[in-house]
Amino acid sequence: MQTGLRGRDLISLQEWTTEEVETILEVAARLKMDRALGRPHKFLEDRVLAMLFFFSSTRTRTSFEAGMAQLGGHAQFIESRTTQIAHGDTAREIGEILGRYNDGIAIRNVDWGVGNRYMREVAEASRVPVLNMQCDLFHPHQILADLLTMQEKKGDLRGRTLTVSWAYAASYQKPMSVPIDLALAGTRFGMNVRLVHPPEYKLVPDYVDLAAENARRSGGSLELMDDFDAGFKGSDIVYAKSWGPLLVAKNDEEGAAIGATYIDWITDERRMALAAEDSIFMHPLPAERGVEVADAVIDGPHSVVYDEAENRLHVQKAVMALTMR
Ligand code: CP
Repeated sequence: MQTGLRGRDLISLQEWTTEEVETILEVAARLKMDRALGRPHKFLEDRVLAMLFFFSSTRTRTSFEAGMAQLGGHAQFIESRTTQIAHGDTAREIGEILGRYNDGIAIRNVDWGVGNRYMREVAEASRVPVLNMQCDLFHPHQILADLLTMQEKKGDLRGRTLTVSWAYAASYQKPMSVPIDLALAGTRFGMNVRLVHPPEYKLVPDYVDLAAENARRSGGSLELMDDFDAGFKGSDIVYAKSWGPLLVAKNDEEGAAIGATYIDWITDERRMALAAEDSIFMHPLPAERGVEVADAVIDGPHSVVYDEAENRLHVQKAVMALTMR
């Protein structure tokens, strides 16, 4: 367990050691137990978290806000569109100024080629920790919740098969932050990660290479596949969600047209039956029901999506308590 995490930014889990990530998961489990038993845990009394959103959210916003209240502090919800950011406040100014009012700054900016760079500029100027609530490349608090959920359901993750698959969705071109971060984390924890997607949906090559390097170090594996059904076969954990063809499509229309050629990439009961008998189905939500995943799967016996969503609260409380005290 690592205890010197005060003041640390969490922008990418890859910048935290595996022991530090395990510390977060251990503290999260303790805070989850405290909440179940009604034991107060006000580690952040009088502390304030600024939550700056450039993009909509249900789970991230509400779980960070609830988490700060349960830790005895306060979270302020800020939308970029109702601030002076549109009129010139720079990332540096946001870091300097919000860092003087608050004890932490959490940011969601998923704009492709922009989000990660933006939060690093804020962090550079901020005197308090910057927490990534999802950027174009990473979604570390989602992945922490996923790791906690997988550990709760499957125990030791080493040697477990994790299928990280693309799925079709009709609504918009979603970021690739979840599959990148999940592939990086799964391979660090010694899992056999299958990264499954049509050819147009490649992830950023540097991070695929990094996941392969993680697997080499941990004794896990990384397998690249383009056959959706084959990705399910015998898998312990099926994590199938949509993302945009961001490396090849010039605009949303072109991205939608590419996606429309793969509308049969839906997780249904037939495909789940190909996975291990005791497999679990995971999804960060929101999911496009009947498009990305069948109701019978997301509401069915393999699905753990609500436990997964709950764990956002516990891991985020752990991160805030460890970094913002
Ligand atoms: N999984 C997730 O980040 O959900 P929201 O977009 O609702 O925050």
